[in-house]
Amino acid sequence: LKFPCCWNDGVDEHMIWLIGLKNIFARQLPNMPKEYIVRLVMDRNHKSVMVIRRKQVVGGITYRPYVSQKFGEIAFCAITADEQVKGYGTRLMNHLKQHARDVDGLTHFLTYADNNAVGYFIKQGFTKEIHLEKERWHGYIKDYDGGILMECKMDPKLPYTD
Ligand code: ACO
Repeated sequence: LKFPCCWNDGVDEHMIWLIGLKNIFARQLPNMPKEYIVRLVMDRNHKSVMVIRRKQVVGGITYRPYVSQKFGEIAFCAITADEQVKGYGTRLMNHLKQHARDVDGLTHFLTYADNNAVGYFIKQGFTKEIHLEKERWHGYIKDYDGGILMECKMDPKLPYTD
């Protein structure tokens, strides 16, 4: 099991993984227009942390790091249908936090969570109260009325993965 972070860098293997992830998002997030999913997954400002098992994509999280603001916005998060509720979503989030803190230098994540995913995000340490100062994120992430804005503050030292 691997949790690589990659983006649209032209490397064949990465492109195959990103296409697999885009297909999982399209299936698991039926309210999201497919063109919008492809655009963000392939956008060079976005990165994706993925769960790869036996060379196959099982799920992932696509996010945009705003390095100057030290926060990231999670755009999409999903695990393929027959692999949900086995703990992959939790391990995925832990790898995302570790990478975002140690490689991107981020302190927080924000996301618009679907109503049915709020429970998952709460278990991952997200809250509905936004503590991040508005100046840090205002104008960077746009309002979206299909979900609830949630925040996660990363611990500065905790090892999130082993
Ligand atoms: N609501 C409440 N609790 C949940 C949900 C949910 N939708 N999904 C998982 N959980 C719980 C699990 O029961 C588990 O609890 P436990 O630790 O007490 O046993 C915990 O959250 C973690 O479960 P995992 O097995 O690690 O989660 P999973 O691998 O299933 O991944 C995910 C969670 C990503 C939400 C997955 O179920 C999924 O792809 N769902 C469909 C797509 C979706 O809703 N994505 C999020 C949309 S919002 C966005 O993308 C910004």
